[in-house]
Amino acid sequence: MNIVVLTGAGISAESGVDTFRASSDPKRMGLWEQYPVEQVATPEGFAADPVLVHHFYNLRRQALATVEPNPAHFALAELQKGLAANGGCLTIVTQNVDDLHERGGAKDVIHMHGELTSTLCSACGWRWHNLDDLSVESVCPSCQTRGGPRPDIVWFGEMPYHMDTIEAHIKACSLFVSIGTSGAVYPAAGYVQMARALGKQTLEINLDASDGSHFFHESRRGKAGTLVPEWVDEILGARDA
Ligand code: OAD
Repeated sequence: MNIVVLTGAGISAESGVDTFRASSDPKRMGLWEQYPVEQVATPEGFAADPVLVHHFYNLRRQALATVEPNPAHFALAELQKGLAANGGCLTIVTQNVDDLHERGGAKDVIHMHGELTSTLCSACGWRWHNLDDLSVESVCPSCQTRGGPRPDIVWFGEMPYHMDTIEAHIKACSLFVSIGTSGAVYPAAGYVQMARALGKQTLEINLDASDGSHFFHESRRGKAGTLVPEWVDEILGARDA
């Protein structure tokens, strides 16, 4: 069985990572309610105020050290191993810039919106693994440009990463599953329609109704930390039966 899972901020919410938009969880505000998105997540915002943008992503990067994967991340890693043992495949495509899938044991995670642990030089295009804070004084280790380094995050108006690879995986899968995403941002929000047009089965697992819930064959409402392990048990149980 070949499955593609698309994850969003909701899968990391129970680990303590803020979602971008408010949800029905009364304990959490959305990040975009606290910071204007055009100031911290656009190339124009970075050009206008790089100090603010570095500060915003430095806080997010520092927060990685304070959070842990939750049962949903671990369950997907278990599903990946379980399917691979039988010649199948689970491809995890994430909009998340955290590293919780990897720390939960998942392999070859496709980060379509970039990663907090990666830095990109806007002068020469060099990318490198980096956990340190960035500032306007940061120097690119490759071209030595001061102020060149920026978070390796896809901002609004920029092209998401790995789109051809993601499309190829959706074409090759039999089941497409969306977990913890509001379906508000394209192209990720359109993958369910692509999967439907290709005749794939589709399932959504999300706390609230998403913008695209009506496109899915089935929608399960609740917390990923509970519903994802249950769903993984169903898949692996059916395989073993
Ligand atoms: P959002 O914050 O838009 O949506 C998170 C979704 O997760 C909501 O639909 C919530 O109902 C749901 N949710 C919250 N807690 C949950 C839980 N415990 N279990 C299951 N679901 C839960 O986040 P994304 O959809 O990931 O892009 O946002 C998509 C993109 O918009 C992000 O990658 C980011 C943002 O702007 C960029 O920065 C380019």
